[in-house]
Amino acid sequence: MSISQPAIGEAEIVTLSAEETFNEGKNFASRLNGGEVIALVGELGAGKTVFTKGLCKGLDVKNPVISPTFTIANEYDADFKIYHFDAYRLSGSEDAAAIGIEDYMMGDGVCIIEWADKVKEIIPEDAMWIYFRHDEDRETGRILRIVSAGDS
Ligand SMILES: Nc1ncnc2c1ncn2[C@@H]1O[C@H](COP(=O)(O)OP(=O)(O)O)[C@@H](O)[C@H]1O
Ligand SMILES: [Mg+2]
Repeated sequence: MSISQPAIGEAEIVTLSAEETFNEGKNFASRLNGGEVIALVGELGAGKTVFTKGLCKGLDVKNPVISPTFTIANEYDADFKIYHFDAYRLSGSEDAAAIGIEDYMMGDGVCIIEWADKVKEIIPEDAMWIYFRHDEDRETGRILRIVSAGDS
């Protein structure tokens, strides 16, 4: 019996404006069928929420998408449920587990988690990770590195 390792796909994208990051999120939505976990990492203002807004647009969410920084979790309806978390104000994985994030991650909805590195112990192995960083040379430049297990 052989155990097959999932292929790791990796891509780096440079965006030059918030609109471009939004559009990357929108395009990314076409990869989703429900049940995925998308872990977003990057400092404040790096574009995680802008990307999520585009992703929700791509999934045809009608309600306004707002940052769950204070609410911790927002829920949207598309073909499947979208759960948008922000772990910024959580103290760590135990805190996240206490509010039941893992239950959402096991369901059929799509889970998007900003500041996922703060709760990495509870992120499933097959999650897609997207790392955002500021481009040092361009004020509105951002570099997005997408690392996804299982596809390419
Ligand atoms: N290339 C870019 N991609 C995303 N946001 C950008 C970009 N350039 C400028 N911005 C601005 O940076 C901010 C990103 O905010 P946000 O998405 O809330 O960040 P985060 O959720 O990572 O803290 C927004 O004010 C946006 O207009
Ligand atoms: Mg945010």
